[in-house]
Amino acid sequence: MIKYLGSKRSLMPVLETLFRTTQARTALDLFTGTTRVAQALKQQSMHVTAVDTASYSEVFAKTWIELDASTVNLVELEEAVTRLNNLRGSAGYFTKAFCEQARYFQPKNGERIDSIRAVIESDYRQSWLYFPLLASLLVAADKIDSTTGVQMAYLKSWSRRSSADLELKVPELMPGSGKSLRADANSAIESLPAVELAYLDPPYNQHRYFGNYHIWETLVRWDSPETYGIANKRLDTRDAENKSQFNSKLTMPAALGQLITNLKTETLVLSYNNESWLSRRELTDMCAKFGAVEILDFDFKRYVGSQIGGYNQSGELVGKPGAKRNLEHIVLAGSSRIVAELVDSVRR
Ligand SMILES: C[S@@+](CC[C@H](N)C(=O)[O-])C[C@H]1O[C@@H](n2cnc3c(N)ncnc32)[C@H](O)[C@@H]1O
Repeated sequence: MIKYLGSKRSLMPVLETLFRTTQARTALDLFTGTTRVAQALKQQSMHVTAVDTASYSEVFAKTWIELDASTVNLVELEEAVTRLNNLRGSAGYFTKAFCEQARYFQPKNGERIDSIRAVIESDYRQSWLYFPLLASLLVAADKIDSTTGVQMAYLKSWSRRSSADLELKVPELMPGSGKSLRADANSAIESLPAVELAYLDPPYNQHRYFGNYHIWETLVRWDSPETYGIANKRLDTRDAENKSQFNSKLTMPAALGQLITNLKTETLVLSYNNESWLSRRELTDMCAKFGAVEILDFDFKRYVGSQIGGYNQSGELVGKPGAKRNLEHIVLAGSSRIVAELVDSVRR
């Protein structure tokens, strides 16, 4: 898995408990990013639909959510990975843009990324191997970059990990069924099927994923875009179509409200943190259609109490908001029975 802002790594044990408690058989992960959460849903034998606007996220979802490990020949994948690992490097667009003009990767690795990516396009475009090979390349490149985790800038001196040699690993595919969709959540929502469980993890500040991970976009699209600035970002980072309503304080509340209104699900689990532009009251009101709403607060992995500053079903304030620090929150919405069971499951 790649380093990713807002990745739910530390919250996974809690999310897994919540998902298990719902006993849902169908699920939707609307802002799937790395697909970490969608994978946890698939692990619990749910049919998962994973949605995100990012091209690299689609690669991950095609690999880990849509492919069914029990129906493909894994030996073919192993052989293709070995073949790609043995290719000699040859400098192209990637090396020039991200190793010379900007210094995100050491040239020896950039050259191999160029060769490997070119062969994935020429030899595997029509094959089921295309997405797992791309996912393998993205994960391998992430391991040897010279950044602090986002691609807004690169380090002045090479990071230690950037000296290691790029090495593709065979992605561990999962058995089960799922669907990947590269789309804007609000545009797609009405055409998505009804599910028993929906998980929402939208961006909650102004930092745009398209600009933060522009190299992954380019590596997947393989379109040699014009770039600008020291970070060598894609010129189309500035285009309206690559901006998300969820990255603006002005548009985020209405976008989330519209999404929740149009969601066809029995149970909703929504992540946000205390940097978010929405108050607990606003979030609770948005979820009113479900019946019961509770908000759980977590200090990283640790559960620090439910209902702190939350509202109960009659709209009465329950408890007091926690102290200002970096808290993760999970909104639970659904029937009063299921919400009570969910709260109970993480208290135990
Ligand atoms: C907080 S991250 C999700 C992280 C994810 N849960 C994980 O664990 O990797 C938010 C995601 O929303 C995506 N995104 C932003 N705007 C979107 C939109 N309008 N529709 C769908 N996805 C969007 C971003 O590309 C990013 O991957």
